[in-house]
Amino acid sequence: STSTKASAAVTREYKWPFTRQDPLLPAPDFDEARASGGVTPVRLWNDSQAWMATRHEDIRNLLRNPAMSANSSIPGYPNSSANHEASRGSQRGFIRMDGAEHLRQRRMVARALSVPEVAKLRPFVERVVDLLLDRMAELGADGAPVDFLTVFAEPLPSIAICEILGLPESEGPGLLDMVNRWMDLDSPPAVSAAAAAEMTAYLDDLVQQRIKNPTDDLVGKLVTEQLEAGNIENSGLLGILNLLIVGGFDTTANMLALGTILLLRHPDQAAMLRADEGLATSAIEEMLRYLSVAHHVASRVATEDVAIRDQVIPAGSGILAPVPAANHDPEVFTDPHRFDITRDARDHVAFGFGIHQCLGQNLARLELQVAFTRLLKRFPNLALAVPEGQIEFRNSMIYGVKALPITW
Ligand code: HEM
Repeated sequence: STSTKASAAVTREYKWPFTRQDPLLPAPDFDEARASGGVTPVRLWNDSQAWMATRHEDIRNLLRNPAMSANSSIPGYPNSSANHEASRGSQRGFIRMDGAEHLRQRRMVARALSVPEVAKLRPFVERVVDLLLDRMAELGADGAPVDFLTVFAEPLPSIAICEILGLPESEGPGLLDMVNRWMDLDSPPAVSAAAAAEMTAYLDDLVQQRIKNPTDDLVGKLVTEQLEAGNIENSGLLGILNLLIVGGFDTTANMLALGTILLLRHPDQAAMLRADEGLATSAIEEMLRYLSVAHHVASRVATEDVAIRDQVIPAGSGILAPVPAANHDPEVFTDPHRFDITRDARDHVAFGFGIHQCLGQNLARLELQVAFTRLLKRFPNLALAVPEGQIEFRNSMIYGVKALPITW
């Protein structure tokens, strides 16, 4: 069988995390590992060994297998860096829980992010997008480059999450700064841990305020209906709030920034989208697939022996199910490194798969669709203000840019 032949072909040791070569494409190591069998041992930053799957089918099977625990406090869980490890345990939101407790906590916030609730936010998101684009137009009126990241890509998701939680929009930049210091894989562990502690203190204070002055925004409702009703402890509530902030800020911001570079690299695709807004839905799915920004999140630890193809992965092993590998599997996506906004990319796993599939995906899609259609329409001559080779990309839990100077 192909799998037998393939696993014999594993020729080198893979070191995780991988480094992208083309900043807009997954690291080539994924393609190599997939071609040589698909299930591969990898060496982690701390020299321990974990396993990596690279085929779309294997990754989906792993992510729906209840023997794959998302609990990062179980020994063997494959953290992506020393600082990620240093801050694990603090703020363990339900993204890192299993079974009934995961489901119970997820349900506490699922309605606020459901399709009908998010649809109600459309006029708000459209207004914010137009305001931010107005501000961008003013800033660049004299022809000087504008940093798309800080002027548009970061503010939009942060304003949207603040709106959902019931926080003033002015809290966004401070929260974003904490998230960035926490999640940067290159920052020293102490910096990460300090940012995590700062976030805890901030959220704790927020909850205390809502206890004193009840409100009917999402934080207020979680306090009255869940915390005070005894359904969740204070630390659990802080974990949920933290998860919405961490999950909602960086991911969408970097999709907006990288997606802009991607469209500018493919003027034919940008022209098609500009001419036909009806393509927005499929264009966004293709951008999510192609860029696969959440390249470190889908990690698990096996609580039982697990067989994938001809490999038995022993209980206690760390397992990586990287989203970029699945999303560029040529068996599912023909010519996967080709960016084609008309392809049917719906089977991508950019939002994960199984019980942990992204709870914010409706919101993310709304923001991305409104943002890209209006950006292209408003700035027909949009261009990078520096050669693409001069853009600095960042090494973080979520892939992205450090800045994105644009002009029009
Ligand atoms: C989970 C990606 C936007 C909140 C996930 C997972 C992925 C992901 C891959 C699964 C992680 C795993 O299985 O370990 C993305 C991408 C986004 C995005 C690419 C933007 C384009 C958002 C937004 C929010 C959010 C806007 C908040 C409103 C969450 C939450 C989970 C999650 C709460 C955990 C779900 C669970 O464990 O049941 N996301 N996300 N995400 N995301 Fe997102």
